[in-house]
Amino acid sequence: MKTAATPDVKLVAAKPFLIQQDWKTYTPEQHAVWTELVRRRMPQLREHACQEYLDGVEIIGLREDQIPELAAISSRLQPRTGWQSMPVSGFLPPDAFFEMLAARLFPTTTWLRSRESLEYTPEPDIFHDVFGHVPMHAHPVFADFLQHYGKVCAALEDQEDLERMGRLFWFTVEFGVIRQNGRIKVYGSGLISSHGECTHVIEGGPEIRDFDLDRVLEQRFSTSEMQKVLYAVESFEQIYEATQEAERRLCR
Ligand SMILES: [Fe+2]
Repeated sequence: MKTAATPDVKLVAAKPFLIQQDWKTYTPEQHAVWTELVRRRMPQLREHACQEYLDGVEIIGLREDQIPELAAISSRLQPRTGWQSMPVSGFLPPDAFFEMLAARLFPTTTWLRSRESLEYTPEPDIFHDVFGHVPMHAHPVFADFLQHYGKVCAALEDQEDLERMGRLFWFTVEFGVIRQNGRIKVYGSGLISSHGECTHVIEGGPEIRDFDLDRVLEQRFSTSEMQKVLYAVESFEQIYEATQEAERRLCR
């Protein structure tokens, strides 16, 4: 029988990394950790996350009482934007990652951090991936942007160009902020899923600049300390258009 964990397209580079999510093997303790993570984040996010993220949480049916079943998430998401959340074994090499994004398949880890490391994990887990990323995939413009981003990167070979596009990803998908009603709201997963990083933004830690493609493509960042600079967009159309502009420049 075909399940939501079977992609409609034939994946080549990503194929070795696809797994099934064995949802029944999560323990009561793991579900309890998930609940604690969601309860820690939601009060701050109701105030400081963009509306599109909060709408996405409802649309994909995210629950606080149990770790999400990816097939169920995908069955709610796919009819809206064509995106699915696909279980993968861990960190993907770039070609596999871009191949999946271009096919509207979000590579999603299935392991969950332990109670001892609620705030930080060096590698993404299901909380970062599903709670942090997937709600935004329910927004049509963000959904188109992310697919297009994958398509553009899949066509690039020059390592410096790929590094530049990695910065675009970092300052949007991972650490993106948007201005809504005169206030800064978060939408990047690194901010959504991390209480410390998000609090740092709310308290005025990073310098927040207007989004500018040229500056973003050259903006270096650190993965091991709090962000010093973030780039605020006015709308999600802006990051879609920026990806098209990057495509015109880099895909010659
Ligand atoms: Fe991420």
